Amino acid sequence: MTPFRRIVRHGNLIDVRRMLGVGTFCYIAAHLALFFADQSYSPAKFFHEITHRVYLIIGAIAWLGLAALAATSTDGMVRRLGGLRWRRLHQAIYAIALLGLIHYFQQTKADVTVPTFAASLFLWLIGYRVLAWWQGTSELSPLSLLGLMIVVSLLTFAGEAIGIGIAFHVSPLRVLETVFDFDAGSGNERLMLCGNSFLTSLNKLAKAGMQVRTDEVVRLYGMQLQRWIIPQGTFYLRTHPLMNVMPGYTKCAFIIDPSALKYRYLQDTISQDQIQANDADEHKGQWLTECGLEVRHEKTLGFLSNFFA
Ligand code: HEM
Repeated sequence: MTPFRRIVRHGNLIDVRRMLGVGTFCYIAAHLALFFADQSYSPAKFFHEITHRVYLIIGAIAWLGLAALAATSTDGMVRRLGGLRWRRLHQAIYAIALLGLIHYFQQTKADVTVPTFAASLFLWLIGYRVLAWWQGTSELSPLSLLGLMIVVSLLTFAGEAIGIGIAFHVSPLRVLETVFDFDAGSGNERLMLCGNSFLTSLNKLAKAGMQVRTDEVVRLYGMQLQRWIIPQGTFYLRTHPLMNVMPGYTKCAFIIDPSALKYRYLQDTISQDQIQANDADEHKGQWLTECGLEVRHEKTLGFLSNFFA
């Protein structure tokens, strides 16, 4: 709040700081209530989960911290604690925000874009205060703000590469290489339709130490797909029955970039009304259409043949 108040030169914003803080606590209290509902309202399940998962232990500590700050946010509590002790206690918000960020990163399954953005915002706010303290001023010059922005962006960029590198046991430089790979198509997700032998060979490679993280089976594009995450991106795999019919295709895979495909309706779309059964007590209608997939960038699609490990 303080950096924002100073940049927009609106001192009165201090009046909404308490509202913002208590509002944050209420929001997180609702988050916890939803988690309780998700545990079928069972207190035993709720406490068991919270005490057995690291990311939930961290979230719970942050939650207790927020609760303590909300409970001491009244005028009466400020008077009772005294200005200095109250301020010291409320400085805990920095540690709480850090715990909230760690919790956010830990619960994220694949795409760390939003938590990384939140972390960079946090870094910027801390950077603002450190720089203001170092320069002995309360208001940073436009030049210092620009410098801060560049340093925070570079740190976030490097931090993300190091984080992904640690998660996948690869060099952060290799992660950065993929960022600057401008031939990589428009996204980093690929759908892989493969034959049974292809998948068996891929599994052998994964067991032999390929840097891959597989997680749950996901439902996408109307199919059950196995998700494989490697430093360069995410594959959604599925064996395709047609590829096992002909022996030549069982060691092959089609690699598809879904973002390069456009779902295209064809001409003859018709509406059919009143198609319910004669004795049905309902009104049923439907649209029938023919559609196709248009390949927008053919170089983003691939075919691997004779893959064997
Ligand atoms: C006992 C306390 C807490 C519990 C049990 C809890 C539980 C959870 C769970 C289970 C998820 C994953 C939801 C999913 O898979 O979609 C989650 C996500 C999240 N939590 Fe918490 N949490 C707690 C406290 C906190 C606190 C204190 C903060 C912030 C300071 C926080 C911020 C978040 C955020 C930002 C996400 C990601 C939401 C999203 O991506 O949609 N949580 N939490």
